[in-house]
Amino acid sequence: MRAPSTDAALSVPAMPAGPGADRPTAASISLSALTHNFEEVTRRANGRKVLAVVKANAYGHGLVPVARHLLGRGAHMLGVALVEEGRELREAGIEAPILVMGPVFPEQADAVAALRLTPALSNNTVARALDDAARKRSRRIAVHVKIDTGMSRTGVSPEAAPDLIRGMNSLDGIVVEGLMTHFADADLRDKAFAAQQMERFENLIRTLTDQGISIPLRHAANSASILDYPRALFTMVRPGLMLYGYDPVEGNASGAALQPVLSLVTRIFLLKKLPAGTPISYGRTFVTGRESLIATIPIGYADGFSRSLSNCGEALVRGARVPVTGRVCMDMTMLDVTDVPGVREGDEVVLIGSSGSERITAADLAAKTGTIPYEVLCGISSRVPRIFL
Ligand SMILES: Cc1ncc(COP(=O)(O)O)c(C=O)c1O
Repeated sequence: MRAPSTDAALSVPAMPAGPGADRPTAASISLSALTHNFEEVTRRANGRKVLAVVKANAYGHGLVPVARHLLGRGAHMLGVALVEEGRELREAGIEAPILVMGPVFPEQADAVAALRLTPALSNNTVARALDDAARKRSRRIAVHVKIDTGMSRTGVSPEAAPDLIRGMNSLDGIVVEGLMTHFADADLRDKAFAAQQMERFENLIRTLTDQGISIPLRHAANSASILDYPRALFTMVRPGLMLYGYDPVEGNASGAALQPVLSLVTRIFLLKKLPAGTPISYGRTFVTGRESLIATIPIGYADGFSRSLSNCGEALVRGARVPVTGRVCMDMTMLDVTDVPGVREGDEVVLIGSSGSERITAADLAAKTGTIPYEVLCGISSRVPRIFL
C-alpha cells in the first residue's frame, strides 16, 4: 500500500485532461439513457402527447440540454414550476409550448405574456391580470385550468370549475386550452384514492361537455400513473421521474426497464494512512478500529451529497464498495479505502452510478437518508458541473 501523503498541496495528482478536469466532481448525464426512458414513455402513451417535466433544473439533470434533447425526440410540451424556469428556456431559444405548473402571481402576468408561457390557473384573479397583459399585446394567452381532485395543493374544486372556466372563456385575452389534475398517491399499488380522483375529474369532463365546453388537452398522468395506472392517460401525459430513469411505483412493481440518466463522480484528492484509534471529521463520530487508509474526496453537502450520509453512505472505488467514515463536510467527505487493492490518489470515485459490477442509485441514497430519489437528484447543487454524454 502507498505511503501516506503528508502535504496536501504536494499530493494533488495531475487530473487528466477532458471533461471534469477543471473540477473533478461532476454529474454525467447519459443522453442515450434519457432517450431510452423517453421511448418507454411514448410506448406507454400510445400516440398521446407528452409533456416532459423539466422543472427544478430537469430534476438536477440540466434544464436546457435536457429540454432540447426531449423536444428533439418528440416531446410536445415542457413542464416547469416557475416563470423563471420558463424564462431560462426561452432565453436559450426554445420555442416549444411551456406549461408553468407552479404558482403564478398576478404581478407575473406581463412576464408570462412576454415569454409566451402557458400558466396552470386555479382562480380568476390571475386570469384577469393575464387577460389585461394579453390584450395590451393584442394576443391571446393559452391557459390550463388545474382541478383539485384530492391533492389539496393548487387547483379549483370540480364543483367550482365550470363557473371559473366559463368566466375565463368570456375574457378575450384568454384561451382555455387544457384541463389538468394531479394524483396524490398514484405511486401506491392500492389505487383506491387515485380512482376517486379519476372519478371527480371524469365527472367534471362530462359536466363540461354537457355544457358545450370542450377543452382539447386533458391530462393527469405523472410517472406512477403512466407506469401503473394507464386508465388516467387522457390526451397528454406528464412524466418527470421516469424520464430520469427511476420508477416511483411502490416496490418498483411496474417492471419498466428504465435507465438512470445521472451519475455523480469525483476523484480521490488525498490518501492518508491512519493508525487505529484515529478520529475522523467533525464531531469525531468515527474512530478507526484498525490501521486504515482514508481517502478524502472533494464533494460534500454543499454539492448535494447529504450530510445524512455521514457514517452510512457508500461510494465505489475501483469496483469496490467503500463506506463513508465520519461526518460529511460542506465540501469534502472521507472514505475508508483500506480494502481497495491498488487504490491511488486521483482514482475515480462513483457516488451515484456503476463501477465494475457494483452500482449505487439515487434510490439507494434516498433509502439511506429517509427521502425519495426526486430529492436526491434535484438536490445536486448548481456548483456541480453537468457533463452531457
Ligand atoms: C403537476 C405535476 N405533474 C407532473 C409531475 C411529474 O411527476 P413525476 O416526476 O412523479 O412523474 C409533477 C412532479 O411533481 C407535477 O408537480
